[in-house]
Amino acid sequence: MNPRTNAQVAAELSDFVSSSPTSYHATATAAARLDAAGFTELDEREKWELEPGAGCYVVRDGAIIAWRVPADLATAQGFRVFGAHTDSPAFKLKPGGEYTTEGVRQVGVEIYGGPLLNSWLDRELAFAGRLALADGRVVLAQTPAIARIPQLAIHLDRQVNEGLTLDKQRHTTPIIGLADLAESDIIELLASSAEVDPELIVGHDVYTIPTQAPCLFGVEDEFFASPRLDNLLSVHAGVTALETVDAQSLEAIAVVAGFDHEEIGSNSRSGACGPFLADITERIAESLFPDSTRSDYLALLAGSVCVSSDAGHAAHPNYPERHDPQVRPRLGGGPLLKLNAQQRYATDAVGTAMWSAACAAAGVESQDFVSNNAMPCGSTIGPLTATRLGMTTVDVGPALYSMHSAREMCAISDVVALGAAAKAFLQG
Ligand code: CO
Repeated sequence: MNPRTNAQVAAELSDFVSSSPTSYHATATAAARLDAAGFTELDEREKWELEPGAGCYVVRDGAIIAWRVPADLATAQGFRVFGAHTDSPAFKLKPGGEYTTEGVRQVGVEIYGGPLLNSWLDRELAFAGRLALADGRVVLAQTPAIARIPQLAIHLDRQVNEGLTLDKQRHTTPIIGLADLAESDIIELLASSAEVDPELIVGHDVYTIPTQAPCLFGVEDEFFASPRLDNLLSVHAGVTALETVDAQSLEAIAVVAGFDHEEIGSNSRSGACGPFLADITERIAESLFPDSTRSDYLALLAGSVCVSSDAGHAAHPNYPERHDPQVRPRLGGGPLLKLNAQQRYATDAVGTAMWSAACAAAGVESQDFVSNNAMPCGSTIGPLTATRLGMTTVDVGPALYSMHSAREMCAISDVVALGAAAKAFLQG
């Protein structure tokens, strides 16, 4: 196993997650890591000329696809794709600007994805995202902690502990200041963080983010608490693995895909239902094999496989009845292999064998996840990627508690294990 201590692993993941408050930041963080590892950014609007052994990446809005080409092209049997998603539930800044209520300043927000609403209460929040400027630039921005969605005092709702009900419009609106102290507004703070003139801002995709730093905890420092573990933990594992694959012994083109908009259904130009991965794989094939036909590309796809990694649930000790009675994945037990008969997960017998081989090569335990039949099963990018590209796909991922909370938790040993399995899969 990896000799690094829990503290080192936690510090690395903490840096990655903290530098990635939104999907736009996550792609920039991944891109910076890949730049440092010698990868080259390509522009989708240009013609590509890829060389054997090349490491490249493309960013499309809040999504990124990166790859390493085998040094010996004759060995390239297809693509090995490690897929994940860059977005997480949050609140998105509405248009309409700020207003004053009861002496405090407020801004409207819309719910993005499926957050555990209660977990966002009584936390100091920042706003982060991207700004489109009148001169055509798009820049990243992030305010300091300026907002909070304050909970109602128990004295004003004596029944609250029998069941908290939150109205998605009225009860989720953040406060950002005192009405009689209004000197600067959110847009000005965002502009100042990006060092641009606020007058230049003509569009924005801006979200609330919790500001409390991630941390290790547990009697043996075995747990890790952080926002956005779903699914930056997987993005981090994929990028870290790709950085270190050895082109000399690759037998497939190793690809890491971080899609946006998974939390809202993946239907977008940068989501897994969109054309991003199909576009990029076809262009890689065409550039590497200039005389190839469409049929050659499809042959390459037929020899391709995909691991879709996304957060899953460990059996919760306080709610044991919510899980399958027999299959009890636990924190610290290694990555989950996610199974669902309705194909909410793409895993099948062939995919299972493929993932088992990667885990065995990495010396990592894998554990099965299957839902309780009375509970709805989540889904992820796996079935969408399989549907779009026809690759054999397997759904896996790290076990969490509190998925979609503003502060989720995992076991730090599972971070190490997923990273090792991702590396073994991509290396082949
Ligand atoms: Co997820």
